Amino acid sequence: MARASSTILAFTILTLSSTLLPTNSHQFSTKLNKREMGISAKREKLSHLHFYFHDIVSGRNPTAVRVAEAAITNSSATGFGMVVMIDDPLTAGPNMSSKIVGRAQGLYASADLSEIGLLMALNFAFLEGKFNGSTLSVLGRNSPLSAVREMPIVGGSGIFRFARGYAQARTHFSDFKTGDAVVEYNVYVLHY
Ligand SMILES: *[C@@H]1O[C@H](CO)[C@@H](O)[C@H](O)[C@H]1NC(C)=O
Ligand SMILES: *[C@@H]1O[C@H](CO)[C@@H](O)[C@H](O)[C@H]1NC(C)=O
Ligand SMILES: *[C@@H]1O[C@H](CO)[C@@H](O)[C@H](O)[C@H]1NC(C)=O
Repeated sequence: MARASSTILAFTILTLSSTLLPTNSHQFSTKLNKREMGISAKREKLSHLHFYFHDIVSGRNPTAVRVAEAAITNSSATGFGMVVMIDDPLTAGPNMSSKIVGRAQGLYASADLSEIGLLMALNFAFLEGKFNGSTLSVLGRNSPLSAVREMPIVGGSGIFRFARGYAQARTHFSDFKTGDAVVEYNVYVLHY
């Protein structure tokens, strides 16, 4: 009896507080329903994206620009400390004249003292069809001399909200004289 009445009392207080008190607009955290947010397990998709990344460092219109290097430039054979800012086109085919599907914007930096190893911190900003305006964020290690490099996809926006996955990169073409390179990317990503 005592338990029942205290339950009723608690219920009444809850009901009153939710009806009488204004919604607290300063509430820091609330639990939401996943289904209402459209992110139930049933709606999870696995997408595969395939494109070519054009890293153009030479010529009059480079899309990859070195912005920093270690004060002692010969301190390491790996260029440790070098930072390159990029806004590289992503195309559907390997040829630069094929359809542009997005851009890779961010930076890569030489982060390994003993072999060539890059820290990649960039966003794939897509421009094509339903992906237009959506992004995927890459944060990982890239050893460009390896045949296949794998980097985590750590998140995304737009169509790629809550994204997670990985990208595999393979050098399609590289010009050792100019430093220009075309890299094939296969991206596997879970999203809703
Ligand atoms: C780096 O450059 C300095 C000055 O030119 C030279 O004395 C030194 O031997 C070089 N170090 C390496 C590892 O090449
Ligand atoms: C790229 O496309 C252009 C124009 O269609 C063509 O002239 C060129 O030969 C192509 N390059 C390669 C490497 O296929
Ligand atoms: C992508 O979105 C932008 C901004 O809304 C728009 O200007 C552009 O035409 C769109 N591109 C494609 C290929 O749909």
